[in-house]
Amino acid sequence: MSHGKNLVYYKTDYEVGLMKEAAVLVSKTLSEVAKVLKAGMTTLQIDSLCATFIKDHKGIPSFHNYRGYPHHICASVNDVVVHGFPNSIPLKDGDVVSIDFGVILNGWHGDHAYSFVIGDTSDDVKQLIRVTKESLYKGIEKSIVNNRIGDIAFAIQEHTERKHKYGVVRELVGHGLGKSLHEDPNVPNYGTRGNGLKLKENLVLAIEPMINMGSKDVFTDADGWTVKTKDGKPSVHFEHDVCVKRNKALILSDYSIIEAAEQANTNLFPSPVIVF
Ligand code: MF3
Ligand code: CO
Repeated sequence: MSHGKNLVYYKTDYEVGLMKEAAVLVSKTLSEVAKVLKAGMTTLQIDSLCATFIKDHKGIPSFHNYRGYPHHICASVNDVVVHGFPNSIPLKDGDVVSIDFGVILNGWHGDHAYSFVIGDTSDDVKQLIRVTKESLYKGIEKSIVNNRIGDIAFAIQEHTERKHKYGVVRELVGHGLGKSLHEDPNVPNYGTRGNGLKLKENLVLAIEPMINMGSKDVFTDADGWTVKTKDGKPSVHFEHDVCVKRNKALILSDYSIIEAAEQANTNLFPSPVIVF
């Protein structure tokens, strides 16, 4: 998302530590979601679970009222790319839902997202999820000192669009993160190697590929927020908070606790039927 300011803020090591606490609190919230997610649940129930969990842990949900956003999470199901409003429609088997959530903790923002499958889904959607997550890590690999924003962008586009023929959303981008939810620089998921801002140590980025199974084209609903694919095909979204370092980027958010909860939740990953 774009914003008015035009300044890049580099954090101190101490501030990066505080930002890690904020990012991990979001990860913990998403792992709570992963534990209970199942067909029949509504995204409004997930919204209240997340808001309660964050408040119980002394955080402030950051999306609520941000530019008038009316909920605590973004819940984007199937052809919804991002910024889906939580609603009272029960999730059903085969749905892919991205939960994007942000918190302010001790004055610092955490903002990240994870895409879940309800029950089982098609091989096509499974591949879209796998490739989108892989592309996020390929972008993170490039988030080191002296690389440029364009190197991150190119790596994501290369893996998703050129290799797998998916559509990379152009209208929405990742961003710097800190005392504000959206800081410079923008972090597009498409671009040219060697272009853009040169990365320096302790720049914190929210890298967030939004990848469509079909065409890259999207539109915004009449509600002014919900972004959907034009062709109605599914879209997947993953987001990590990442700190630029000299040799290897430091990932502040933590998927391992989400993935562990996801694998333990038999409603998300049905056990294979054992035939005697
Ligand atoms: N991760 C999203 C973003 O960076 C979340 C913003 S939703 C909003 O744009 F409601 F806060 F705008
Ligand atoms: Co973001």
